[in-house]
Parts: sequence; structure tokens; C-alpha cells
Amino acid sequence: MFSVSQYSGTIDENYQLVIKQLKALVEGETDRIANLSNASALLNQFLEKINWAGFYLFDGKELVLGPFQGLPACVRIPLGKGVCGTAASTGKTMRVEDVSQFPGHIACDAASRSEIVVPMIKEDRLIGVLDIDSPITNRFTETDQYYLEKFAAALLPYI
Ligand code: SME
Repeated sequence: MFSVSQYSGTIDENYQLVIKQLKALVEGETDRIANLSNASALLNQFLEKINWAGFYLFDGKELVLGPFQGLPACVRIPLGKGVCGTAASTGKTMRVEDVSQFPGHIACDAASRSEIVVPMIKEDRLIGVLDIDSPITNRFTETDQYYLEKFAAALLPYI
């Protein structure tokens, strides 16, 4: 649907374009699985040097694996456990430069070196998290965090 060559601007321009593409994909669609699936596919073809991009959804008790791109991953993550469970329980984005130094990191793909997890909260209710892994240490910058939080916020009304 989209080709990588479209993302030929600055980092800011490229992120703004991908958020515009996200909105075009989800607007008018109410099915959360469809919207999360397209969002994970969109991020996977946009972001360089990543090996996993997807979602965990809160079922009222714990995080459960949702739509994603990448290797098969652990299905259930208790709140407070790993990078995802920590982001979910604190409500704060976790940007982990080196996952081997993060106590309790859950290694789904042994190749993962750094990770960013953005909590998705709607009207004080935890909906889930956006999780992206990279095989490169320190892959995610403050700019990535800024735009991935915007990406997650743009998706939130549609899930
Ligand atoms: N590494 C995550 C688990 C999910 S996988 O990366 C897909 C964590 O520690 O929460």
C-alpha cells in the first residue's frame, strides 16, 4: 500500500506523514482489531531497524498479545512485569536503551536490544500498550518517543 521511498523527508516530516496515513487508514472504521492490525503494519514498514511492532491489550487483569508484526511473542504479561507491564502500570512511556540492563525484561525475540513502550490510556482507563523492539542498542530517540506518543494518541479513538 505504501512504499518506504515515500518517507524521504526529515524525521519530523516522515513521522507527520505516517500519522496522516494512520488517520486515513482508521477514520470511519470501528473495528479495533482491523485498526490495530493496520497500525502495526504501517509502523513496521515505516520504522527502520526494528524487529517487532505491535500491541498488547489490557483485558481488565493483565496485558494480552494483540495485533503485531514480528516473531511470535509471549501472550500474557502481568501489570508491572517487563517493559510493557511497567509502562502499563505507571502510565509512562518506557524508552529502554539496553534491554539486557532492564530488570525483568521479557525476551520474546533474543535479537532485541532496545525497546520503546507507549501506554494507551483513554479517559483514565488503560486500553493497552504500543510496543516496538529493535535489534540495535539505543535505537529510539526522544523524537521517536514524541511522535510514537502522537501516533498512539491518534489511534486511541479508533480502538
Ligand atoms: N520485551 C517486552 C515483552 C514483549 S516483546 O518485546 C514483544 C517486555 O519486557 O515487556
